[in-house]
Amino acid sequence: MLPKRKPHSRFPLIPVSLLITFFSFLIIYSYYVKRDSHFSEFAQTSTTLQCSSQALALSEKFMWYAPHSGFNNQLLEFKHALLIARILNRTLVVPPVLDHHAVALGSCPKFRVVEPNDIRISVWDHIIALIRDGRYISIAEVIDISSLVSSSLVRVIDLRDFVSIWCGISLDLACYNDSMSQSAASKSLNQCGSLLAGFRGNIEKCIYAINEDCRTTVWTYHVDGRENGVLDSFQPDEQLKQKKKISYVRRRRDVFRTLGPGSEVESASMLAFGSLFSATYKGSESYIDLHELHQDERFLSLTEKIKFLPYVPEVMNAGKEFAKATIKAPFFCAQLRLLDGQFKNHHKATFDGLRQKLESLRKKGPLPIHIFVMTDLPRGNWSDTYLGDLTSDTHSYEVHFLREDDQLVMQAAKKLTAAGYGQRFIPNSESRIGNKYCSSQRLPDVLLYVEQSVCSCASLGFIGTPGSTIAENIELMRKFGSCSRK
Ligand SMILES: *[C@@H]1O[C@H](CO)[C@@H](O)[C@H](O)[C@H]1NC(C)=O
Ligand SMILES: *[C@@H]1O[C@H](CO)[C@@H](O)[C@H](O)[C@H]1NC(C)=O
Ligand SMILES: *[C@@H]1O[C@H](CO)[C@@H](O)[C@H](O)[C@H]1NC(C)=O
Repeated sequence: MLPKRKPHSRFPLIPVSLLITFFSFLIIYSYYVKRDSHFSEFAQTSTTLQCSSQALALSEKFMWYAPHSGFNNQLLEFKHALLIARILNRTLVVPPVLDHHAVALGSCPKFRVVEPNDIRISVWDHIIALIRDGRYISIAEVIDISSLVSSSLVRVIDLRDFVSIWCGISLDLACYNDSMSQSAASKSLNQCGSLLAGFRGNIEKCIYAINEDCRTTVWTYHVDGRENGVLDSFQPDEQLKQKKKISYVRRRRDVFRTLGPGSEVESASMLAFGSLFSATYKGSESYIDLHELHQDERFLSLTEKIKFLPYVPEVMNAGKEFAKATIKAPFFCAQLRLLDGQFKNHHKATFDGLRQKLESLRKKGPLPIHIFVMTDLPRGNWSDTYLGDLTSDTHSYEVHFLREDDQLVMQAAKKLTAAGYGQRFIPNSESRIGNKYCSSQRLPDVLLYVEQSVCSCASLGFIGTPGSTIAENIELMRKFGSCSRK
């Protein structure tokens, strides 16, 4: 019996081990194929990525995140990032300004968003493109956070400097021109990006990449962590659950309890968030709810300052200069968003609001009324609209506007680029790798910022397009007396 049973019992082991081998191949294969869509190099160099020893030797702990969508959304994310960095006592890696809608998130209320890993790698790819095009400009070169930094409310480092210290490579490598060194350069850039995006998973002491997003999580903060883990009031409804096969729920999670001291994340040199965008929907924040942060005294001065972050002086001065030297009179500002998505169907309402304002101003006199117009409708298309009426009625109105190639705007861009270095907050300037390979710096596009600063100076009033985040930002600038600040 025994000799017969032996082969019998051993026999099933063979297919099992075959199966295991087969599945491991399958897993490894799909793993590389997935990465392959981003990195053609990675299939050949399957070395396990680790933090460089210099990164591990740093006593600083860092965090970064994936900014996206239009400028004002990026500004909102930046503010959230500053707050979270402060809560977690991490140094914030300051990203560049991304092109308008170069990277998109999707819709939180519809539970249709890009995975955190994917949005991080899209941001990385866009950063490389900005460097290569010579158009890279940090958001801290546009938005003035110098007072936050000098008062030690936050610690920040420019992304370019961070990459050179942490990955040990210069982002300038993206500009390498001869093909041999180019492929070596893009390999090391890809490895750095892959590590930072979290494609290598979480690596102890090195990186912790957050994979939760607004479908499952709302980040909160309370001194006592009381909300940690409770269900959020907004959940996918039954219909959506069935249609999209959603099995998860949205929980409120405390940033400090989940990611701070004592958590498994604490020892990681880098903490990578995905999007930090949030908006209110049905009475709930879609992803970040730090409204109660100001109840903790330690965060009071930061939350106060973050309510309004001004543009850097180079931008503000250009706006003031235009008001003083070109308009030379009290003026009214109109911000008209007419082309983008939701706005193109509301022309009539947008123009009606402006018309009413101007009629009432006209009764008060004196004429002509000076108007500064900022709009996405090209100048050549004004004639068929109310703007055409305004420009032709020279008795009643004098219309002013700015263009990208106006001297004033180009000068502001030049000054911004020149001043930029001083705003990079480099802890150790010797570690910075210089601009070796990227020679063609182009001027950043600052028109939108300068236009907003002009509007903040409009003493006859302001009307913006309802629902536009640009209009909201101008209102904020006016409320905080941005124009008269030193
Ligand atoms: C915050 O981080 C800094 C730098 O890593 C460290 O020196 C400091 O002790 C930390 N503060 C707290 C309260 O943990
Ligand atoms: C890169 O190489 C191309 C072709 O060899 C050349 O035309 C271009 O000027 C070079 N660019 C830089 C920045 O050196
Ligand atoms: C602007 O004018 C051009 C040329 O007349 C026309 O082709 C284009 O459709 C117009 N755009 C808008 C948004 O009206």
